[in-house]
Amino acid sequence: MSNQIKKIAVLTSGGDAPGMNAAIRAVVRTAMYKGLEVKGVMRGYQGLLEGEIVDMDSKSVSDIIQKGGTVLYTARSKEFATDEGKAKAAEILKKEGIEGLVVIGGDGSFKGAQGLSHIGGINVVGIPGTIDLDISCTDYTIGFDTAVNTAMEAIDKIRDTSTSHERCSVIEVMGRSAGYIALWCGIANGAEDVLLPEKFDNDYDKLIAHIKDTKAKGKKHHIVINAEGIGHSTSLAKRIEEETGMETRATILGHMQRGGSPTCKDRVYASIMGAYAVDLLAEGKTDRVVCHKDGKFVDYSIDEGLAMTKTIDEYMYEVSLHLGRS
Ligand code: F6P
Repeated sequence: MSNQIKKIAVLTSGGDAPGMNAAIRAVVRTAMYKGLEVKGVMRGYQGLLEGEIVDMDSKSVSDIIQKGGTVLYTARSKEFATDEGKAKAAEILKKEGIEGLVVIGGDGSFKGAQGLSHIGGINVVGIPGTIDLDISCTDYTIGFDTAVNTAMEAIDKIRDTSTSHERCSVIEVMGRSAGYIALWCGIANGAEDVLLPEKFDNDYDKLIAHIKDTKAKGKKHHIVINAEGIGHSTSLAKRIEEETGMETRATILGHMQRGGSPTCKDRVYASIMGAYAVDLLAEGKTDRVVCHKDGKFVDYSIDEGLAMTKTIDEYMYEVSLHLGRS
């Protein structure tokens, strides 16, 4: 083996996502397969600053591939956001003899990893983990597939009761600044309207006119999928009821979208990304992020990855609109 790295660690950071356990398992088992020692950092960067580093081996990742959440726990850290925090964290890793770190999380977590590499000389590789799908350099993020299926199943159930009562339902799905869950559910659940933070022009009058129109055409329900980034679902439901005369209920799906057993896709893609991240560290690489782009697993420098931009697919959005309006 040409690499000099002997010991690596793995942590999860930011919001948890189903499939993170599959990635942790793949990191640990690939490291062992390559003869590397591997540690787990508990509670993300905050746990790192508190020295919460545990031994990992093949057994410590048994029976986790099918579980939601993250066995390493996760946290957000204000202290780590500072240069001093990063320098301290790098020192803690060095004292443990850890030369490489796999960070499973979102954009913010990758920026943190970059700091560890630039300030502290630790080799770092990021794996995109977020249900929001809002990491620009990759078409896939760990957890999105499970979350969108969880949301879709919940919305199907709401649709049943919405139809029985001939109501309008405003359903809020997660995505603080990204509408991917809303868009996918909009198409998958046959919603009449989808409100995305990237697209919605605040034209509530148009939305209300559309609801009146579908009611006049005899539709038995009207499903509005509203992304968290737009929010205010309860007051929106009240306004719709007042202005259209159609009984309206709001449901905020919330954190149930972040839990549950990962889908096959999340288990498989997360496993491949975990193995890929260890391959990169073993080759002596640093400042890389593992991505899935145009059907292939690839890696970019974190800088290059963070500089990329991602927009809602126009055609997909158009389809969601015309299927809901005709
Ligand atoms: O990043 C994933 C996400 O679930 C967002 O969709 C949501 O806005 C946020 O995390 C919620 O964070 P928290 O769990 O801290 O409330």
